[in-house]
Amino acid sequence: MTGAYPHTRLRRPRAKAWSRAMYRETVLTPADLIWPVFVTEGEGVEQPIPSLPGVSRWSVDLLVERAREAADLGIPCLALFPDTQPERRSDDGAEALNPDNLMCRALRAIRAELGERIGLLTDVALDPYTSHGQDGLLGEDGYVLNDETIAVLVGQSLNQARAGADIIAPSDMMDGRIGAIRDALEDEGFVNVQIMSYAAKYASAFYGPFRDAVNTRGLLKGDKKTYQMDPANSEEALREVEMDLAEGADSVMVKPGLPYLDIVRRVKETFEVPVFAYQVSGEYAMIEAAVAAGAADRDAMVLETLLAFKRAGASGVLTYHAVHAARLLQK
Ligand code: PBG
Repeated sequence: MTGAYPHTRLRRPRAKAWSRAMYRETVLTPADLIWPVFVTEGEGVEQPIPSLPGVSRWSVDLLVERAREAADLGIPCLALFPDTQPERRSDDGAEALNPDNLMCRALRAIRAELGERIGLLTDVALDPYTSHGQDGLLGEDGYVLNDETIAVLVGQSLNQARAGADIIAPSDMMDGRIGAIRDALEDEGFVNVQIMSYAAKYASAFYGPFRDAVNTRGLLKGDKKTYQMDPANSEEALREVEMDLAEGADSVMVKPGLPYLDIVRRVKETFEVPVFAYQVSGEYAMIEAAVAAGAADRDAMVLETLLAFKRAGASGVLTYHAVHAARLLQK
């Protein structure tokens, strides 16, 4: 209990660095970081993404080297996103089911080089594979069809699991997909393949640079508001999480990150399950823009924002700053 001044002086424990260290409630380590990476075709290819300064797409061979560096830094897991060649994108996103697609080749290559040194999380949604940039199949009127899309997502998940994915992470927000994917994984014997559900994913203005990275910004007409959540809602996030847990998710994600820390905290307190948060591309770009404008110290801002996720109750954070942060934490 906090008593009366001057017997109680909350500044007393803050007076010395050793004491601040002793009183610290939350710690951030490289094991808290999941690194999202973009993979593209070719060999020896690195393509910087202008709206995500400091982030590049890499061809599979270079990505393997990045994965090795991440593992050496103690980063436990990568999240892979493919930049599918334009001619392989179609209305039905069939490339998602191709056992030799970019994602599967990247999974196999990293596994071959690094074995179990790093976890591999794969995004399940059709947007990098469709010619229209939506996460699912379109009906006549442009509405994203729920049940028809689930059938493709199940195929996509199995395709990724066969190529070696450790964690299937559906980011599509269709109703009922977690249960369908879990059933299919069990049926094929993938009993230890995890599902990290993007359970509370909002229709956010913070995804712009990501859409540049996977080249969907120009394809996408309209928005994703008929399936991603309304940023005004919080009760609904709890229902989304409840449903995905009941259907067999091992962990859940809240996305975006920093503007939604209240959701992270509510989900953690309500369900007491592992909750992850995605510090998305627009959040990364905001920090980098502030640094470029001379308005902020990058290192301090990166570590403070990541620590905030832990304080809010997150088990870990997907962040494009993962490698930079891990290096800072090793110092
Ligand atoms: C799409 C997907 C998106 C992100 C991850 N998966 C964008 C979207 O929903 O349009 C965004 C990640 C980021 O902005 O960093 N399935």
